[in-house]
This record gives sequence, C-alpha cells and structure tokens, in this order.
Amino acid sequence: MALLKIARMGHPVLLGRAEPVTDPTHPEIQRLIDDMIETMMDAGGVGLAAPQVHVPLRLFVFHLPSARVAAEDAEGVDGALPPRAVINPEIRPGSEERRLGWEGCLSIPGLRAAVPRFAQITYTGLDRDGLAIRRTAEGLHAVVVQHETDHLDGILYPMRMENFSLMGFNEELARFQPALPNAGEG
Ligand code: NI
Repeated sequence: MALLKIARMGHPVLLGRAEPVTDPTHPEIQRLIDDMIETMMDAGGVGLAAPQVHVPLRLFVFHLPSARVAAEDAEGVDGALPPRAVINPEIRPGSEERRLGWEGCLSIPGLRAAVPRFAQITYTGLDRDGLAIRRTAEGLHAVVVQHETDHLDGILYPMRMENFSLMGFNEELARFQPALPNAGEG
C-alpha cells in the first residue's frame, strides 16, 4: 500500500466530471481503494474521492469513526462504519429539507465552513466486490456521502455555500467559537 498525494483546490483534476468505474474488482481498482483508505486515515479525514488523488473515476472511500458519530446530536445519527468504498454512486434526497453543517476538505486544508446539505438521502452504488449498495443516510453519514459525490462532479464545498461569513481557519474558529462541532474533512 502507498500514501497518495492529495490535490489541493486550484488543481484542475478537482473540477472535472469523473468517469464511471467499469470493473470494481479489477486489481488496479482494488489497489487504488486500499491506497485511498490508507491516505484518508493518514490525513485524519472521514472521506476521500478518487479525483482528490488525481484519478478521475467515480469512486470514493469514507468511514464514520465512533468518536465523531457520538459527538453528533442524538437525532439523525447513523452508527459508526469502518472504512469502505462506494463506486459509481447516485444520490436521491429524502426530502427538500436541508441542514447547515460544518465541513472541511482535505483538498482545502486548514479551513472549514458551514454548508447546506440534504438532511436525509438514499444512495446507491457498488461496493468493492461489485455488489449493489442501497442505503439511507442522515447526519454525518449523509453529509460525507454528499461531499464526496460532489467531488466526482467537480464540485468543491465552497460552491455549495450560501453564507461566506460562515467560513474560517480551523485555529481561529476553535479560538473564537469553541462550541462549533467539527464535522471532519473529506
Ligand atoms: Ni473534500
């Protein structure tokens, strides 16, 4: 396994529409998934999309650490999940309801911002064995899946923001608004 270089905002690979994965079980895709999980864990992120490691394919990895899940409000919490891949994802909102939550991005280091996201979603796709996934998600789970799927369409979280006063450097937000939850970076 290997740590991969993470593209930062400004690199064109983050702005393109990624191509579907045709064979999830291909050894090169399996190795990419392993390397992306290792890179995500090393960077302390909760999600990582293939374009962030310069691979324009519709694939992301994520996990829901128990510490982060436990820190959420009781309402809307999905359980902790170990690292996994989601391939060729499709998202359907459960309703029009959106929630503002704090997000960071491994491609926009040092910053976080409040971003509106659908409160509940259903997502489909394939797992790393090529088997169909269909899940409903709320809370951090829903935020991470929407953030990572956006990466596959060349969308970074600032493009979803409605109020740019709700953005700042992590250290300053921690100093002046210590009560803010840290949703994690993806
Ligand atoms: Ni991101």
